[in-house]
Amino acid sequence: MTVSQTGPATPDTGQAPPMISLRGVDKYFGDLHVLDHIDLEIPRGQVVVVLGPSGSGKSTLCRTINRLEPIDAGEIRVDGTVLPSEGKELARLRTDVGMVFQSFNLFAHKTILENVTLAPIKVRKKDKAEARANAEQLLARVGIAEQKDKYPAQLSGGQQQRVAIARSLAMEPKVMLFDEPTSALDPEMVNEVLDVMVSLAKEGMTMVVVTHEMGFARKAADRVVFMADGAVVEDTDPESFFTAPSSDRAKDFLGKILGH
Ligand SMILES: Nc1ncnc2c1ncn2[C@@H]1O[C@H](COP(=O)(O)OP(=O)(O)OP(=O)(O)O)[C@@H](O)[C@H]1O
Ligand SMILES: [Mg+2]
Repeated sequence: MTVSQTGPATPDTGQAPPMISLRGVDKYFGDLHVLDHIDLEIPRGQVVVVLGPSGSGKSTLCRTINRLEPIDAGEIRVDGTVLPSEGKELARLRTDVGMVFQSFNLFAHKTILENVTLAPIKVRKKDKAEARANAEQLLARVGIAEQKDKYPAQLSGGQQQRVAIARSLAMEPKVMLFDEPTSALDPEMVNEVLDVMVSLAKEGMTMVVVTHEMGFARKAADRVVFMADGAVVEDTDPESFFTAPSSDRAKDFLGKILGH
């Protein structure tokens, strides 16, 4: 029953719904309250950097938006539609949300081009030639067109992560989630990945980015969401967050990361 799964329609105010909306989202792992009543609305085209100490729930937040993790209470909408918890409709709607992880998770036995065309052909039932042409364009956009016939192990970490981004984009997502996309990279490769993310942001992609790269947060974020113990503690613009954090938790966090 598609109708009951998608819930009541967003009231027609004549405006587009937020691209991502979480209302009263709770999640537990056993006794641990890992997401504590999260309310978050992210408009179309906004770039949100999520910061917070280890274990504060940043990865879990991303995974629930993508329905890799079920929630215990509340509601999550992407572009106005509630994601069902399972079934075919979930598989289709999940492709609206692209996700890039710290580990690139490329298919080792497929070429770079095959990595990017696989899901569009299998899931989106795209014509092979069209999927190829699109993949070549995306690989050019992330600066690795000439690597398309290689295998993942023949690429540097930064190049592999750019393939992972191209692969997500090939599904034409409405939203991109990044969970520490540069944390596994050697320092000299971080910028080549961040540059791709900055250009994606400029092109108007709605993005949620968990990162320790404060330069990216200052330069590319429209908004900083600071989490502690599963709750959103601060939600403000980057300038205010970095220069005048209001909570002790955020001051403590910033002191630790900016202190050296
Ligand atoms: N599958 C799981 N089962 C049980 N507990 C989990 C599971 N995944 C995460 N947790 C716990 O939930 C809390 C939030 O974890 P999460 O990975 O979301 O934090 P994080 O903010 O991403 O941390 P980090 O900065 O270290 O990546 C942590 O206490 C973690 O140990
Ligand atoms: Mg994490």
